[in-house]
Amino acid sequence: MNYACKTHHSTMKSQFIHFRTTASPRRDYPQAVRANSVGVEGNCRTLTSKFDSSVLRPNYKPPSPTTEVPKESVSDDAKPPSTGKFGRFGGKFVPETLISCLGELEVVFRQALKDPQFQEELTTALKDYVGRETPLYYAERLTAHYKAQNMGRGPDIYIKREDLTHCGAHKMNNALAQAMIAKRMGLTAVVAATGAGQHGVATAAACAKLGLSCTIFMSTADMEKQPSNVDLMDLLGTKVEPTAGSFKDASSESIRVWAGQLGEVYYLAGTAVGPHPCPTMVREFQSVIGRETRRQAAEKWGGAPDAVVACVGSGSNALGVFHEFVGDPTVRLIGVEAAGFGLDSGKHAATLAAGDVGVYHGAMSYLLQDEEGHIVRPHSVGVGLEYPGVAPELSFLKESGRMELCSATDNEAVDAYRRVARLEGIIPALEASHAFAYLEKLCPTLPDGAKIVVSCSGRGDKDAAMVSTYMSR
Ligand SMILES: Cc1ncc(COP(=O)(O)O)c(C=O)c1O
Repeated sequence: MNYACKTHHSTMKSQFIHFRTTASPRRDYPQAVRANSVGVEGNCRTLTSKFDSSVLRPNYKPPSPTTEVPKESVSDDAKPPSTGKFGRFGGKFVPETLISCLGELEVVFRQALKDPQFQEELTTALKDYVGRETPLYYAERLTAHYKAQNMGRGPDIYIKREDLTHCGAHKMNNALAQAMIAKRMGLTAVVAATGAGQHGVATAAACAKLGLSCTIFMSTADMEKQPSNVDLMDLLGTKVEPTAGSFKDASSESIRVWAGQLGEVYYLAGTAVGPHPCPTMVREFQSVIGRETRRQAAEKWGGAPDAVVACVGSGSNALGVFHEFVGDPTVRLIGVEAAGFGLDSGKHAATLAAGDVGVYHGAMSYLLQDEEGHIVRPHSVGVGLEYPGVAPELSFLKESGRMELCSATDNEAVDAYRRVARLEGIIPALEASHAFAYLEKLCPTLPDGAKIVVSCSGRGDKDAAMVSTYMSR
């Protein structure tokens, strides 16, 4: 069970991975637990007090469409050092023992961003191994489908095809780059956690490519839901460690193993959550999606998208495609969370819409928690969306009003999964299907010819059996 604390009351569970704030302080913690929290709060104050103003990038100037296209690499847009804070969100809520390790990770990460050799290797690997750039595909029949409902008028829909990356999801962009960081640090073993299995497969493949040993934690429940990905991880030479509970428990377990073997093992964060610098690293390595999108949009219609739509699980594909456009107010950024059985059902994964602020897995962000501060188990038909927290940067984008927040139910996502398959011959992952589901509401509101980009974060072969069971209920 996960217990919580209020940061102002200095009470917390002994493992930072379960530490979060709540509306009501608990008074029944063991002494050792209370003592532990003092150091943690101290760390948070010193390490997280500055606002990372680069997030809004007010001086951002979109490149002219006639400008020569820059070589795709993280160095194209290297950001200034970050404190890990996005407004009041983010930070490094961890025990003392992890501080130096996270600090070292940040230094290596920053150096890698500036190192031309690392960038060249990453650029080559993204091109030749991952298969970038991914197409920005004009979805002609999906566009026609919505126009037909509105007297032939409506937006043009483009799909950013992350489903075509090696191993079938955006997760590979980050997994490969971080595995390269692990190697740079001289580490030979990687641990990670996976929900839908996409991050697990991507990490397993990246580790195989780079000769690193790999252990992936996955809940038995998720293993049952996504058996093909378990087989793939095994095939790729990775050890899959089953855990009880759900994805959050697998995450906790992988962090626990890493924390016990600091200096020997690299924790490969699969999404933009966790203590700084994990969210920033993941965002940085995923932001190639948005940079490509901007360039491709300029080539295809000579401008930027009017709206970019992405599903929000923990936040990595959304931040990956949004980041390039955050400083460009003409581009609407629309995040679609999983409404499960409905936002009022208590069975959903809509953390930003229905959660409140707390600290979990080492950072402050929105969380699904009850009055007592216990984690509320998330639910979605898209297994990869079932996480009770969300990227701190997305919490900031929500509160600043820069990101619009929407949701799609299980039913709506499954409908969209089938609709996109039948109209376009593309099978989106159930996670990505939530973004496609929102087109039902968005398209009738947009003028003729407006340009929408939907992030198709992954391919949905893994979900075919589940959808067929779902349809036969
Ligand atoms: C295909 C796909 N899309 C989206 C997600 C959600 O993760 P995130 O919000 O980090 O993009 C997952 C998670 O496993 C996924 O597999």
